[in-house]
Amino acid sequence: MQIIETIQKRRSVRTYTGEPLREEHLISIRQYIDQLQAPFGVKTRIELIHANPEAEPIKLGTYGWVKGACDYLVLIYEEAPFAETAAAYMFEEAVLFCTDLGLGTCWLGGSFSRGDFKKQVRLEANEKLRIVSPVGYPADAKRFLEKYIVRADKNHNSRKSFGELFFEKDFDHPLTAAQAGVFAQPLEMVRLAPSANNKQEWRVLLEEQALHFYKKPYPLFDSIDLGIALCHFELSCRELGVGGQYEILREFPENESLPYVISWVQDE
Ligand SMILES: Cc1cc2nc3c(=O)[nH]c(=O)nc-3n(C[C@H](O)[C@H](O)[C@H](O)COP(=O)(O)O)c2cc1C
Repeated sequence: MQIIETIQKRRSVRTYTGEPLREEHLISIRQYIDQLQAPFGVKTRIELIHANPEAEPIKLGTYGWVKGACDYLVLIYEEAPFAETAAAYMFEEAVLFCTDLGLGTCWLGGSFSRGDFKKQVRLEANEKLRIVSPVGYPADAKRFLEKYIVRADKNHNSRKSFGELFFEKDFDHPLTAAQAGVFAQPLEMVRLAPSANNKQEWRVLLEEQALHFYKKPYPLFDSIDLGIALCHFELSCRELGVGGQYEILREFPENESLPYVISWVQDE
């Protein structure tokens, strides 16, 4: 899979043809999600479930936001420190894999009936189900509702500029793509990362050979959004041959409005 190309191609798809996933797609998605492992040692799994959109009792409520989807990826993780971020990292890998197959997806954290989905999977006592995504064949024509959502939310598909999200040395100095050097493209892929309500509440500070990731507290989804950003950044670096790894470096000064989370340290 060409990661950078796939990240550029991905969009949230909320209208599907109603056709269930074909056998070859079911097989390759199952094979892919079965071998995935979340980073940071977190226990996570993704289940692929099938639902007939018209039938009861396995109708899966998505509050009318998603139409015509028959198959869903369901993210399940064990509660632990950093679990949401790591689980989101892994779920985004699955989303990108499906995008590469030409399939549509849409992260759903709110507009679905959790109860309906919980009935479809076996959850252990310490397991959480927070995110699902339809996966299927995008319909050519968008529904009125989908067009309306996109039109009503002016920022829906737009992104904050590079200099609003990424900084050099401190948060008073916006970073330009030219100054970012080898990190320009991986950071651009962070900029394109999907986030809940397209909030993009992560910020990155470049300091010599390290990039420090911060996130503005945002109820329910800030840790998840950060996991997606970390996934885009690391996978893009790997594709470009830029070596390094995530580390929690040191106690950064407490900043309630923008807490430090983790750094990516470039190999010597
Ligand atoms: C954690 C998370 C939760 C989301 N929850 C919903 C949701 O409940 N309903 C929905 O329609 N879209 C949801 N989205 C999709 C975002 O609105 C979408 O990713 C964002 O607007 C950017 O658009 P794009 O994915 O087309 O690039 C969610 C995205 C993320 C990352």
